[in-house]
Amino acid sequence: MKRVFSGVQPTGNIHLGNYLGALKQFVELQDDHECIYCIVDMHAITVPQDPKELRDHILDVAALYLAVGVDPKKSIVFVQSDVPGHAELSWVLTCNSYTGELSRMTQFKDKSKNKESAPTGLFSYPVLMAADILLYDTDIVPVGNDQKQHIELCRDIAIRINNKYKKTFVVPDGRFLKEGARIMALDDPTKKMSKSAENIHSRISLLDEPSKIKKSIMKATTDSDGVVRFDVENKPGISNLLNIYSVLSGMTVPELEAKYEGKGYGDFKKDLVEVVVEALAPIKERYEQIRHSDELIEILKDGAVRADAIAKQTMKRVKENFGLGIE
Ligand code: AMP
Ligand code: TRP
Repeated sequence: MKRVFSGVQPTGNIHLGNYLGALKQFVELQDDHECIYCIVDMHAITVPQDPKELRDHILDVAALYLAVGVDPKKSIVFVQSDVPGHAELSWVLTCNSYTGELSRMTQFKDKSKNKESAPTGLFSYPVLMAADILLYDTDIVPVGNDQKQHIELCRDIAIRINNKYKKTFVVPDGRFLKEGARIMALDDPTKKMSKSAENIHSRISLLDEPSKIKKSIMKATTDSDGVVRFDVENKPGISNLLNIYSVLSGMTVPELEAKYEGKGYGDFKKDLVEVVVEALAPIKERYEQIRHSDELIEILKDGAVRADAIAKQTMKRVKENFGLGIE
């Protein structure tokens, strides 16, 4: 079985875009892959964090993973900082990556823009990400398109080390989530739905109350011609809503266009509210059951033990191949 690894940062506001673009695939992959899903708290501290909020967000995200259907019997779910191998390997990789290649990372350029100085961790963020992946002999990394450059860097580092030392790492492949799965902001369908947008009605968070979902959808930007038709170029708002309706209901876009022929956006939106509320209700229910349970902590502890066992084997090989330590 091929091994899959992916990481998600412990931040709040996990939204419909994250679910349809990423989490849903995580669940689908578990049936025929050996999956390892990590909550990357050490990546989170590359920008300032409130300690209490960080701990809360780690548990929020872990509970959401389980609530959407990640099954701890099939997959390993754990928190990055609970397995010391990530930091250890990260140092080894840091010594085999170059300031030139890291300076070219667009995420670093974006995040350090207009700042006189940036934390070193923000600069070496992609090296820690490479360590996450290589530590588990990962074959496949499902991620968003924005992570393409980081995956390329990870491959470069792995190949470089394999050529210079004994073959040490499996060279992973990225599996990029489809563009079609991209969910746009409800208030501005030319932008991606995002965790950080100021307007809360731009997104539907997985834990939103039905009244909030209703408000956000009823307010969603559409156009003035009032015809429910999929046309991303000219009708991006209604196309985005059709896309959401389709993936959540299982009906195809043409079926939906036929269903709403001759009806206005109001009827369409009212039905969409129901579809979204219904789809999110079981996720929310499961989340509430597990978020403050001992079971959640046990699952993460057990995940860390299982992840650590794999990580230790890799670190043993790395140390041997590099001549580190005495064992
Ligand atoms: P982020 O919210 O940027 O941390 O992204 C976490 C994951 O969710 C990544 O794999 C993204 O590709 C995916 N994702 C984020 N926003 C969207 C969106 N609006 N539509 C589809 N997928 C998304
Ligand atoms: N950088 C990724 C993001 O922001 C998160 C991440 C960290 C990750 N380590 C990873 C993703 C390893 C995949 C594999 O989305």
